[in-house]
Amino acid sequence: MAQLEIIVAPDPRLKVKSKSVKKVDDDVRALMDDLLDTMYAASNGVGLAAPQIGVAKRVLVIDMARGEEAPQPLCIANPEIIWTSDETIVNEEGCLSVPEYYAEVKRSAAVKVRYLDYENEIREMEADDFLAICIQHEIDHLDGILFVDHLSALKRNIVLRKMAKVKKQLTESEAKVPTL
Ligand code: NI
Repeated sequence: MAQLEIIVAPDPRLKVKSKSVKKVDDDVRALMDDLLDTMYAASNGVGLAAPQIGVAKRVLVIDMARGEEAPQPLCIANPEIIWTSDETIVNEEGCLSVPEYYAEVKRSAAVKVRYLDYENEIREMEADDFLAICIQHEIDHLDGILFVDHLSALKRNIVLRKMAKVKKQLTESEAKVPTL
């Protein structure tokens, strides 16, 4: 188990289409554990996908209960959306890879997902409301899509330019720290 660095946009590793896992074995379970540790360490994180820690595998974790009750981690591999509602929902989203930026995104109001769980069992889950939004957001990560990609090109470019600037400043300030 390890707490890892979350990759911040813009970064080519966030644009990759991730590969399915053959099965949920000990290696994939270790990845799920790392994702959970990393997500819980980040403030307000309720979902994290493997590409966000630089692993191009179709694995993600979600915990909608964080900060409230006992943790209720959902560990998901190879998710497939097998049904979506006609009804849509618009909600303000954020992302650990796009810090301090929030925007309204339109998504399906309910979805049905088939996936492999922590024990490599095939499961189906119907989700609506915020869980449905979260699942669609995290599955997007596995396809190299960020929530800002749902915005107009103009808005998206403003955000990504801002992110690039913040990253550059961070790198420069790190470079000034003497290394011994
Ligand atoms: Ni995200």
